[in-house]
Amino acid sequence: DFIYSMRGIGEIQDRLKNKLGISKVIVVPGNVEEDEFVLSDLGKATAKLIEKLATSNTKVGITGGTTMAAVAKGITQHTKKQNINIVPARGGLGKQVETQANTIAAEIASRLNGSYELLHASDTLSNQTMEILLQDREIERVIKTIKSVDLLVFGIGRADTMARRRELQKDIVEKLAESNAVSEAFGYYFNQEGNIVHETKTIGIDLEDFQRVPNTIGVAGGRNKAEAILAITSLKKSMILVTDEAAATMILEKF
Ligand code: G3H
Repeated sequence: DFIYSMRGIGEIQDRLKNKLGISKVIVVPGNVEEDEFVLSDLGKATAKLIEKLATSNTKVGITGGTTMAAVAKGITQHTKKQNINIVPARGGLGKQVETQANTIAAEIASRLNGSYELLHASDTLSNQTMEILLQDREIERVIKTIKSVDLLVFGIGRADTMARRRELQKDIVEKLAESNAVSEAFGYYFNQEGNIVHETKTIGIDLEDFQRVPNTIGVAGGRNKAEAILAITSLKKSMILVTDEAAATMILEKF
């Protein structure tokens, strides 16, 4: 029954936390790949953490994607905290407005009664264009804010999915497959051990910034993200992971 299954989830959480060696793990029951309500639960669980960790005057960095869109929708509480500033931690990606980091930053800010920044830049520009863009004063200002966030909340992506979203060239996609890339974050592609196997120039937060941010929450669910989660959690032991039962049991049983 319910009590039994809640106890089961608690046990999965503890076992996963031990296995990954990170500071906190939250597991919601179910599988996001099979049930849209699980994605919304994942969002709500992450939202609760944000509401707890974002105190007055906190700068919060967020990324894009379908999972982060659910996180924004999960914030329901009206906070009494003041001056929370939400900033997109990476540039625009893909063709849907709902999953852009800019859109999600604005939505979270409105729900937290805070302010937000917009990063008017695509994440898939050529290196040369990127260099020029970084000289723009407004972009420079937002990048500076991104580099000083107190809390970062980010979606964890599979390498193959993200390569597709970024429309990477065929030879690079092949290189990623050959080098067993399983995960992508901030323009870096990692193998299961968390080693960088490929790097693309992106706008926004980089790996060093990621490691420096005081509070970090990674969020991802579904069995097919198990390896991606493993890779990313090996990069920063102080991070918090919010995931679902399907990904958690997959990591515990298969890796
Ligand atoms: O930036 C995107 C995330 O890394 C993963 O995206 O939540 O749509 O799977 P997703």
